[in-house]
This record gives sequence, structure tokens and C-alpha cells, in this order.
Amino acid sequence: MRNYPEGFLWGASTSAHQTEGNNVASDFWALENRPGGFLPERSGDACDSYHRWREDLDIVKGLGFNAHRFSVEWARVEPAEGRVSLAELAHYRRVIEGCLERGLTPVVTLHHFTSPLWFQKAGGWTAPEAVERFRRYVRAVLPILDGVDWVCTINEPNMLAMMASMMKAEKREENVAGAMPPPDQAMADGPIAAHRAAREELGGFCSGWTIAIQNFEAVGGADAECAEWAWSREDQFLDAAASDDFVGVQAYTRVRIGRDGALPVPDGARRTMNGWEFYPAALGNAVRHTAARIPGVPILVTENGIATADDDERVEYTRGALTGLREAIEDGVDVRGYLHWSLLDNYEWGTYEPTFGLVAVDRATFARTVKPSAGWLGDVASGRAAQLP
Ligand code: BGC
Repeated sequence: MRNYPEGFLWGASTSAHQTEGNNVASDFWALENRPGGFLPERSGDACDSYHRWREDLDIVKGLGFNAHRFSVEWARVEPAEGRVSLAELAHYRRVIEGCLERGLTPVVTLHHFTSPLWFQKAGGWTAPEAVERFRRYVRAVLPILDGVDWVCTINEPNMLAMMASMMKAEKREENVAGAMPPPDQAMADGPIAAHRAAREELGGFCSGWTIAIQNFEAVGGADAECAEWAWSREDQFLDAAASDDFVGVQAYTRVRIGRDGALPVPDGARRTMNGWEFYPAALGNAVRHTAARIPGVPILVTENGIATADDDERVEYTRGALTGLREAIEDGVDVRGYLHWSLLDNYEWGTYEPTFGLVAVDRATFARTVKPSAGWLGDVASGRAAQLP
């Protein structure tokens, strides 16, 4: 039987705002609750993981995974500028210890899309003080990171930057990150500088950031246009990781680029629940692109998955993705682990409809139901599966 590299991390990813519930001091909470706002659903109690994290970790352990990715919520740790909550830090310390006690390697993200509302109101990532504000938050979190190796500073800064342009443009119909308008360069420069400052504070940890890799494909000879398109939306963020300890790769689908920009999903192509092209090859291609762009930087797959109501389709997609990943590893790409998105059916930034979870969550009782796909991936992870993809 073929084996994955020694010490390979297997697990699933989550983020605070999407699972904890009642992240009331965050900018996204404010957006969700704005009278006349454009988001169809509020996060509300989310999956109540703020209280049920032990149950979540027990599920992760029970499945046979050896790692778990979650995020620390800045808006909880520093709900008002300069006011650090020791109780919230103690909460996240308990979660880290919960991972360690269960033999799960914690992969800790310090910023997953949401910021404290005060930070946003004070100019967000483009304010001159943004970098020092983020550095101060990272310093506040440092004391609880004992026993942690893997730290992701900022999740998908490229998506964050494109989202900012999209909000400004008031053009919201594009839901694939790579098809969105290019980021204002200031929205790229701010997080890049903040990432560097965070890494200065994180000496001794294996630190990096996680990038949404969009698999841009030139169509009809649009190679130059595609390269330009990809630089602003993806490659500059990879380049900023060239001397990091690792880079997180997150891949779901592909985006085809013609001479006039992003092309729609081809007619008749199979689509996922949120309209993206069903494209399992995205993962293998994404790690190959990353390895070619920033050679020598170890890769951790920090997200890959599918929004579907059909759990067999989740297995089919993930099997295809892992096959591509496996082939890339055999060709010499240095991949250290695979963390599936997501552990739970959670709040998908405005709606609960697209279900990415290995585990279903009852919206009224928060009861967890482990799906067959979770069992299948757990078997792959722990080597119980008769056949490894
Ligand atoms: C994000 C997640 C999100 C997922 C699926 C990534 O862009 O990091 O927060 O839920 O993709 O859309």
C-alpha cells in the first residue's frame, strides 16, 4: 500500500467566526446585522463551537485525524483597542490544550477574515497603524501558544483584498475569489507588511500564511493577460511567503482567463452547491503552482473541499483531489499535510446553505452528525482504508 510522507498531518479546518457563534465585536457581525444589509443570513450562534469545542475535538480524534486547524478571534481577544481579554486568551489556551491532550497537532490561525470592529473603523488594513495594531495582537496571543508548532498569520489575504474591492465596487455577483476585481494595492501591501511583522514576533514557531490558489488557466492564447491577472490576485501573496517556514495552500476550483478577464464556468460543466466548477484537479495543480513559484517552501494544504448536499459527491471530489495531491508529492512537491475544509457545516459568510462539512450541525439543537465522508477520510488518514487515494 502506498503511504503518505512520514508525520503527514491529516485533519480538518475551521474558523472562529464561522463556527463559534456570537462574535459580536467583529466587523463581520456588524455587516451581518446592518439594517437593510445585503447578506441573506446572520451568523448568530453559528455552530456554538465556542461552547462545544470539546465535542468537536472528540469527533476529530475519533475519526483518526492527527491535526486540527482553528482560528483565534482577534475581536474576542481585543474587543476594544488596547483592551486585551485575559479570559478569552484563557479560552483559546484551553482549546490548544484540548488538542494536545488528544494528540492532535494544533494549526492555529491568528486572523481568519474577521477583524475587530474598532480596527475596521480605524481604517482597517490600509491605516498607517494597522501593522503595529496587528503586531500588538500577535504579542498578546504569544503566551498561550506553548506547545504549538504551526501558526498561520492571516488567512487568504488575497481573498480579503479582493473582497474589499468587491465591496467598494458594489458588484457582488462573482463568488469565486479569482474572478473578483483586483485588490487595491494598498489592501495587498497592508496585510503583507502585517504578515512580516507577525513573523518577526513568531520566531521559534513554524509560521506562514494561507493563500487561496485559484488555478488560473489562460484560454485562447491569453497567457500575458492571465499572468497579469494572477499576479495581483495571487502570486504577489505567494512571493511574500518565499522565505516563510511554510505556506498554506487552499484550493477548490479553477478560474479560466480570456483576453477580457475571467470567463464563466463552461456551459454544461458540473458545478458544486455554491456554483463553482466541480474540479478536483484544483488541489494537485495548486500545490504544483505554489512549489514552482516559491521553490523550497514546504506546503501545508490548509483547505480543500466541496459544498454539496450529496455526501458521496464529497468523497468523489476529495478522492480526486487527494489523487492529484499524491501525484504531486510523488513528483517531489514537499507537502506536509492535508486539512479538509471543513470539519462542520458552518456559516459560509452570509449563508448557511452551502454545506462544506464532514459533520452536519442541527441548526436548532447544534447536535453534530458525522457524515460517511468523514469516516472515509478518517480511514484514509489513519491508514485503515483498504485503498489510499
Ligand atoms: C475560506 C473559508 C471559506 C471557504 C469556502 C475559503 O475561502 O478560508 O472561510 O468558508 O473558502 O468558501
